[in-house]
Amino acid sequence: MSYETILVEQHDAVTLITLNRPQALNALNGQVLKDLIAAFAAYDADPSQRCAVLTGSEKAFAAGADIKEMADKPAADFFLDDFFSEWTSKVCATRKPWIAAVAGFALGGGCELAMMADFIIAADTAKFGQPEIKLGVAPGMGGSQRLTRAVGKAKAMDMCLTGRMMDAAEAERASLVSRIVPAADLVAEALKVAAAIAAMPMMAAMVNKEMVNIAFETGLNQGLLTERRLFQILTATEDKTEGMAAFVEKRPGVWKGR
Ligand code: HXC
Repeated sequence: MSYETILVEQHDAVTLITLNRPQALNALNGQVLKDLIAAFAAYDADPSQRCAVLTGSEKAFAAGADIKEMADKPAADFFLDDFFSEWTSKVCATRKPWIAAVAGFALGGGCELAMMADFIIAADTAKFGQPEIKLGVAPGMGGSQRLTRAVGKAKAMDMCLTGRMMDAAEAERASLVSRIVPAADLVAEALKVAAAIAAMPMMAAMVNKEMVNIAFETGLNQGLLTERRLFQILTATEDKTEGMAAFVEKRPGVWKGR
């Protein structure tokens, strides 16, 4: 598959997707969104791939939706196209795990894209923000919802109302990112984490992802019931039989992914 605005490489069982529009700090124009939809669909459909990493450049993960593309677009077109609905739902429908590895700016749609990942690994240079208010608008692809769920109301309000940036240390304290690594090591570290996930039994990885996502979307009792049922389903897999036998026999498990 060929892409115009992203680079895609396979590192054994890990797909590395790199946003590649440096002249616009990886601003998300229509072509980037098309390329991302295709790359995530290809990753999800490829049985040899078991984890993905999405990254940008040293200066910017992504500086937001493409302001130049939006500037003259009439309001009716935003509404009639249901702007950003199709691609966000497609990227978020990825069933296998993926990590956002963020260095530099992750602003507006860039921050929202990072928050669609299962988790974020930040370089010490990362800066997160929802500055849409300064453009006379507001987050439009999940920022007000995912940021609030991740960091709570006080910080989300602060970020959205002032448009200020949060550095990596603050983002880690606020639980927006799971860990911080030196910028020079970002991609290597993210690939290492992804390789560890890729080495897990695949169905268990997919179910663990689904379970944590359900916690964001439902009440506690419904979430606990869904967790129990998904756990019970996993006990029927060959990898469960192998995993528990391997523990008892004090050897590493050999996974079939089913
Ligand atoms: C289009 C962008 C862009 C963007 C940067 N560029 N961000 N182009 N859309 N979001 C372009 C600049 O125009 C410039 O190109 C080039 O990238 C380098 O950017 P500079 O501004 O010269 O770099 P710098 O001075 O280092 O400042 C970096 C920055 C700044 C602080 C990140 O670029 C910035 O504030 N960008 C906008 C951030 C933002 O507001 N994001 C939210 C977008 S709205 P040229 O060719 O001009 O030199 C959004 C809404 C989502 O995401 C939901 C809507 C429904």
